[in-house]
Amino acid sequence: MKRSEINAVVAEAKSAFERHGWTLPPNPKWDVTDFGLGDFSKFGLLLVNLAEQPEYCEKLMYVRHRQVTPRHFHRAKKEDIICRWGRLAIELPSEKSQRLQINGEWREVSPNETIILKAGERITLTRDVLHAFWADSEYAIVGEVSTANDDVNDNFFENQLVGRFSEIEEDEPETVILIGET
Ligand SMILES: [Fe+2]
Repeated sequence: MKRSEINAVVAEAKSAFERHGWTLPPNPKWDVTDFGLGDFSKFGLLLVNLAEQPEYCEKLMYVRHRQVTPRHFHRAKKEDIICRWGRLAIELPSEKSQRLQINGEWREVSPNETIILKAGERITLTRDVLHAFWADSEYAIVGEVSTANDDVNDNFFENQLVGRFSEIEEDEPETVILIGET
């Protein structure tokens, strides 16, 4: 990713968080990725790690309209993905139906169903559940609350070409330092 692209989405996310009353902690831990695919508007995500402890993790994310986080699962992490503002589409590719919790209620999810979460709604993704997501609204503010997070070793993408972090091309000075750059 170009540094200018990272700076631009950080500024865009900051103002969206501000507009909707999400005050970031001092020295926010920024994480911006194009999943190594080189087309951030199609495949990309901005995250802020709010809490990262050995037992649990909390993140805040900013997702643009139709900007996809590609299909992946976690072997260790169990996570709630929470729509905090806008509408978030969660695709659940699977040959069989699956029993999952949506807003804490168990539900039978059909094979390959895409669920739309409205603001305030959440889905609980247990280990090995394949998922992808994107904003179905102009943008979405999204929360993640999970068990221990290990972004280096616990993201398994369906497409082997996808990676969790980006190469950065320095075309202007950085406005924030990303996780992994420190
Ligand atoms: Fe995930």
